[in-house]
Amino acid sequence: MTDRLEIRRPDDWHVHFRDGAVMKAVLPATARQFARAIVMPNLVPPVVTTDDAEAYRARLMDCLPDDLDFTPLMTAYLTDGTDPDNIAAGHETGILTAVKLYPAHATTNSAHGVTDLTRVEPVLRQMAEIGMPLLVHGEVTDPDIDIFDREAVFIERVLKPLLERIPDLRVVLEHITTAESANFVRSAGDNLAATITPHHMLINRSDLFRGGIRPHLYCLPIAKREQHRLAVREAAVSGHPRFFLGTDTAPHAVKDKESECGCAGIFNAPTALELYLEAFEEDAALEHFERFASLNGPAFYRLPPNETRVRLTREPTETPGPLDLPDGNTVLPFRSGQMLRWSVDVVG
Ligand code: NCD
Ligand code: ZN
Repeated sequence: MTDRLEIRRPDDWHVHFRDGAVMKAVLPATARQFARAIVMPNLVPPVVTTDDAEAYRARLMDCLPDDLDFTPLMTAYLTDGTDPDNIAAGHETGILTAVKLYPAHATTNSAHGVTDLTRVEPVLRQMAEIGMPLLVHGEVTDPDIDIFDREAVFIERVLKPLLERIPDLRVVLEHITTAESANFVRSAGDNLAATITPHHMLINRSDLFRGGIRPHLYCLPIAKREQHRLAVREAAVSGHPRFFLGTDTAPHAVKDKESECGCAGIFNAPTALELYLEAFEEDAALEHFERFASLNGPAFYRLPPNETRVRLTREPTETPGPLDLPDGNTVLPFRSGQMLRWSVDVVG
């Protein structure tokens, strides 16, 4: 049995840090383990221009504790009014790593999202030309489509036609939850990759209702049937170069999760790396863990992998309890109160 593993320091390719006091409270949980993270732009109002992203990056760096070595990689939120030249200039100067597509009203804070992809075609063509990745929340928003089918329908109605129209566009299908997505990514060209969250490797839709309704397991895309969880998990542990780590850690105050109309999002930053590792161990795939956590993402984003390393030791650790916010609210980490089987140390 492997009791100790040392790998290059991982990156998280999908994170929601929010802003202000919440940002200050949650940032260390990611920055203590991950060297870099792709920062989602769905603030209120959203990060839409290069200037917005630069200002947000400065706010993040301002509240980063001095002893943590961490680089936020910024994204801009694609809207019907996005200026292709502004995005290209932001990429050129290194401020913007990628652009995020939220179909309008698909998820938390997505009211400014794109209503019709043909309207943003000039931006997408420009991005294809300069090799800038488009990060996609892959769900249709048509209320007539069953919530459990929205990801699979998105592939057929939106993603396939988009890649046929702009075959060189580099796309990350974010937080995949279905066998259809895993299969589509596998069968596609080198310009399509996917991120996978720890929770979608661990829970299925029945878990949302185990013994009663479980608001802290509600996120979007929603967890699917067991067969889909298994397919997504198989893709993650397979070592395939176009699947990589993206936690989709998405903090919401407990009062907003446990309400009559609870928010979508799971705050997993404090436990994510350990839980991914447990899943890889259970599936006898520890030899693929470094690829998933630390190598495949940088390769797709055309960035060097980290030179620093983390040590993963089999040593039971307690999950952190609720995180206090200055306004008296709390944020509850995924699997809070349960033991983790591994502990993680950055070894430099
Ligand atoms: C995210 C959030 O809270 O910002 N929620 C979620 O359920 N994943 C938005 C998103 O990534 O869909
Ligand atoms: Zn997200």
